[in-house]
Formats: sequence, C-alpha cells, structure tokens
Amino acid sequence: MEAKLLKYTKSIIYEESGKFEETRFEKKHNVIFSNSSEGSLKVAKEIADLIISKKAKGEQCILGLATGSSPIKVYEELVRMHTEEGLSFSNVVTFNLDEYYPMTKDNIQSYYYFMHEHLFNHVDILTENIHIPDGTVSADKLHQYCIDYEKAIDERGGIDLQLLGIGRTGHIGFNEPGSHFNSETRSIILDYITKVDAAPSFLGIENVPKKAITMGIKTVRKAKRIILLAWGQNKSSIVKKTIEGEISSKVPATYLQHHNNTTFILDIEAASELTRINTPWLVGPCVWDEKMSSKAIIWLCKKTGKSILKLIDEDYNDNGMSSLLVEEGSSYDLNIKMFNKVQHTITGWPGGKPNSDDTSRPERANPIKKRVLVFSPHPDDDVISMGGTFDRLVSQGHEVHIAYQTSGNIAVSDYEALKFAEVSKKMKGSKDDSFISGIIDQIKNKKDNTIDSIEVRKLKGVIRQMESLAATRYLGVPDENIHFLNLPFYETGNIKKNPLGEEDIKIMCDIIEEIKPHQIYAAGDLADPHGTHRVSLNALFEALKILKPKPFMDDCWLWLYRGAWQEWDIHEIEMAVPMSPDQVLKKRKAIFFHQSQKDGVMFQGNDIREFWMRAEDRNNKTAIKYKELGLADYAAMEAFVRWHY
Ligand code: F6R
Repeated sequence: MEAKLLKYTKSIIYEESGKFEETRFEKKHNVIFSNSSEGSLKVAKEIADLIISKKAKGEQCILGLATGSSPIKVYEELVRMHTEEGLSFSNVVTFNLDEYYPMTKDNIQSYYYFMHEHLFNHVDILTENIHIPDGTVSADKLHQYCIDYEKAIDERGGIDLQLLGIGRTGHIGFNEPGSHFNSETRSIILDYITKVDAAPSFLGIENVPKKAITMGIKTVRKAKRIILLAWGQNKSSIVKKTIEGEISSKVPATYLQHHNNTTFILDIEAASELTRINTPWLVGPCVWDEKMSSKAIIWLCKKTGKSILKLIDEDYNDNGMSSLLVEEGSSYDLNIKMFNKVQHTITGWPGGKPNSDDTSRPERANPIKKRVLVFSPHPDDDVISMGGTFDRLVSQGHEVHIAYQTSGNIAVSDYEALKFAEVSKKMKGSKDDSFISGIIDQIKNKKDNTIDSIEVRKLKGVIRQMESLAATRYLGVPDENIHFLNLPFYETGNIKKNPLGEEDIKIMCDIIEEIKPHQIYAAGDLADPHGTHRVSLNALFEALKILKPKPFMDDCWLWLYRGAWQEWDIHEIEMAVPMSPDQVLKKRKAIFFHQSQKDGVMFQGNDIREFWMRAEDRNNKTAIKYKELGLADYAAMEAFVRWHY
C-alpha cells in the first residue's frame, strides 16, 4: 500500500522528508489514497486503536460520527473488527453530527436508521451511549434540546475523535455556507445543493426535508482529533477550495484550517484538483511521462489561449515546464509530437477503417466486420453517451449488440407508470383483468417513501425496455441483438443497491461469451465510488478477469465512454469520433425515445437540463476544445479511452 501511496501522495513525502514546497499551496494536512477502501481501512484502524488505548486506561472513548456515503466503509471495517477480532465498543460513547428535521426514527432516510443499519446493530455499544439528534422533538422544545445536546458532549469531556464527510457546499455536519465559526448545535435550513445531492435517496428533491439539526462549527472544532473523508471526483472542487482556499463562511469546512489536529483522508479522485496533483509542474520537479506531458501541454494551450502549434519556448519556460522543454529539445518538436498525437485520436471509423494502414489509428482495420458489444448501465446511456458512434458502427456494417445492464426501473415516475397502466387498461376494455387495475390502485394509493411492489417495478422496467427498443430500432439494430440483463444487484426497488454478487458476474460473463465481441464499449465512470455506473463497470471488470484466459478475448478491445455527467479530459482521450450536424440531430432523436427520462427526470443532479441537451453540449464542447488546440472544426465529438484489462 505504501508504494502506491508514494506514487500519488506528496503529503507522505512531506511528512517523511519535510519537502514543504510540494504542499505549499495547501493549508491543511491531507493523505491521499489510491482508493476509498484503502483510506477507510486506515481510518477504521485509527479509531479502533483509540478505543483500545482508552479502554486500557479505563476511560470512555467519545466519538463524533457522521452519516452519508463517505464513512460507510469505515463502519463496515469497524464491524468486521468487532466480529472477527473482538474489538469491543463497550467503552464507546457516540454523538452523531446531525439529523434531518423533522424526521422519525423508523424512516429509512433517517440518520438514526442509517447509524443502526451500518454500525450500532452490529457491535456491542450500550444503547444509552448512543446520541443522535432527535428529529421528532417538537419545534417549541428544539432550542433547549440543542443546548442540552451540546451540554451532554461537554459533560463527557468533549469529543476525542470526530469523523466528518464534506458536502459539495463545503458543509461539515449540516453547517451550510454562512455558518458562523462559533456556532453550536442548532437547527438549520438545508442548502439547495445539499438537497439536490440528497434527492436520489428521497426519490425526488421535493421529498427532501428542508431543515436539519446539526452540531455547530464550534462543537466540531472542540474535538481533540478530526478526520474528514472525501471520495470521488465530485468532491474534488470543494476539497481544493477547503484545503487551498482562504478561510470563509462561504466554505464552512475551511474553518478546519484553524484546527491543529485535523487530517483530510482523500482518494486520488477527490484530490485530483489539488495543485500538486492537477498541475504538479507548478509546484516542483516533475516526472515527464507521456500522460503528464500531454496533460501539461493541453493545460498550457488553455492558459495561454494558443493552439498547440503556436506555443513557443517562452510559454513552456514561464509556466513551470522548462524541464519538459529540456527533455524534448525545442517547443517546435514538442508541439509537432503533441499535435500528431491528438490528431491520431480522431476517427470517423470507430470499428476500424477497412483496408487502410492502421498504425496510427485508434482501432484495428481487421477484422473488417467486427462484433461489437455495447454495455449500457441504464437503458439510455448507450444513446446519450455514444449515440453518434453507435450509429456509425451500425451503418459501417458491424454486428452491434446492446446489453442494458440494469432495468433502470426506479427512475420511472409514478405519473409515467400510471399513464402506461391506464393505456393498457383502456385497450383491454371489457376484457380488462384485475392485474392492471391492481397496479393502477397501487400507484394511486402509494405513500411517500415506500418501495414499489414487484409488479409496479416490472411495469416501470418494461416501459424502459420498450423505450430502448424504439431507440435501437431507429438506429437500425435488430431486436435479437438487444439484451436486457436486469442485473440483480440493482433490483432492490430502492436507491441503495445490493453489493455485486456471483449472479451479476455470471450474467456478464455469459453475454460476453455468447457474443465473443471484438469491441466492448462500457460506461467508464471510474470516479463514481458508489453509483450504479461504477457497480456496472465493476461487474464488467470482474467478468473480464474470469474470461481473460479464453482465446477469443485476445481479440477483444475495451473502450470506455463517460456517463451523462462528465467527459474525459482531452489529454486522456484515445478515440474521438466526430459527428456532422445531421448526426447530432439523429442522436437527439434516439435520446427522445426515452420519454420517461424527459422533463425533470428523477435523478438529474444539479443540472436541470434534459439529457439530450447535456449530451449535445458536452459533445459540442469536446469539438470546440479540439478546434482550440488547432485541429479540425467539427459540430460535435464523442470521446473514448481504451482500457487495457
Ligand atoms: C452527515 C453529514 C454531512 C455529510 C456530507 C457528505 O452526517 O453531516 O456533512 O458528511 O453531506 O455526504 P456524503 O458522504 O454522502 O457525500
């Protein structure tokens, strides 16, 4: 683990050798791990050691605990230590940071429920030692309740170790922007972005509570030790602001810069915008491998506003890249090399160009007709993320198969499902059976925050299947090449999914073996640690591990596209497929067939545009970036990275 850490983590070097220049932009100690699991194990070990050392001294261990996705693995490891290694929680007292308000304890969205499900139900902590802000306290008693919560912490001698996550607003606990440095436990109005982030678990932003009870900044600051966890790309921007920015109530987590025993535990994606990770040439000597120099040159173009071939020695020297210049000899050589590299990523032949020299093309020319298997995590990612490429593959004569990994049923609203159930009932007329009427009743009488019955889920899944078939038929794929895998990990009826199981992996292996593809396309959302896209990708990686020894796999290349939310950075792209204005319109129409995902879909994030708009904007931006680098001017481009498994 240490070797991996050193590769990415200058803070380890910083601790060992005191090379301050590498962290000179950073105001807070942080340690970067190559993934969230490794970081979580390290944190769980620190907590366990503290519990044990306190026990040896006959003392109680006072822990401040957080909920959310960030600490889940830490709790999982603590439970494992309890069951397998006998770690006892009998001397542990906990105070949770926050709770939605109002909120009942039996609501599956409550933090009370979360903490019991992930930790308390599985360890020997005494019930009377558990403190979680109570979301049922009446409004007139709330103020006093908060004062008492604060007092209870003080009476125990204060928090020994406080675990924190960080929201994209920079909140810690639910201390949203504007929170005061000296704030204590209180009720607070949730920020819009926080509600957007919580919306998926509440099945829509309108169901997210508007308020919460939270420990204050002062309460947190009083802790003797603080560990803040942040995983994944979508935390990278707030992590940079918190660690490198000025202290400000606009980013409450920056207040931690004043605390002298705080460590940020990050994975490489969450750390990716820190200056030393993102633009290391600005902080010190750099190892110039191909990836690093490509990244730096693209960055330099953006910084100077120049295309690649217009960069001069001075640009390199003025921007911390003189050592790259020295290695290569001159900006002229560097520029030509980079220009050719980017140029060679562009192809209108994603399945390979027949009968042509393919030495500097992204794909092989042979076999001329390829079997192509596109994995789409949800029934629409195929057209949203690679509709133009999909169209080219079909029209260039390849045998294209689409495998929808999950049913996507929870993203169909009740209104949409009711509409289809009623159409079906109407068509049946007097022959109507009670089955459809039963479904209609269930939808009409559904209570908030309850899970759909199997039948309603099935209806929602079928709606998405039919939409997918409409789109794939439009793009010219025969129905027998469309595969609905309905991976079981997804079928909980809830946002929280099951872990990947053997059955999921077997289904993935079976479809790959059946088709024996020359090309696989899959959603490469590597930075999304918990979501369906990442789990779907893991299912593919596991299947590929199993299948790798089979001879047909020697011919199988894996191309990763990005999901709806982001695009590959230009320096990462290995295949860029241009689209003409007509192809852009065709892709738009293919996306339109997914009608249940139009008009304010359920899991949209904080970008309220419809999927086709986002897809077009992103494909257009990629084309503009290529143009700005001095390459041809296309209407739009889809981008892929080749993954060597
Ligand atoms: C939870 C809490 C919040 C979360 C933060 C990050 O008790 O206080 O501050 O830590 O919203 O949430 P996740 O970990 O889900 O990204």
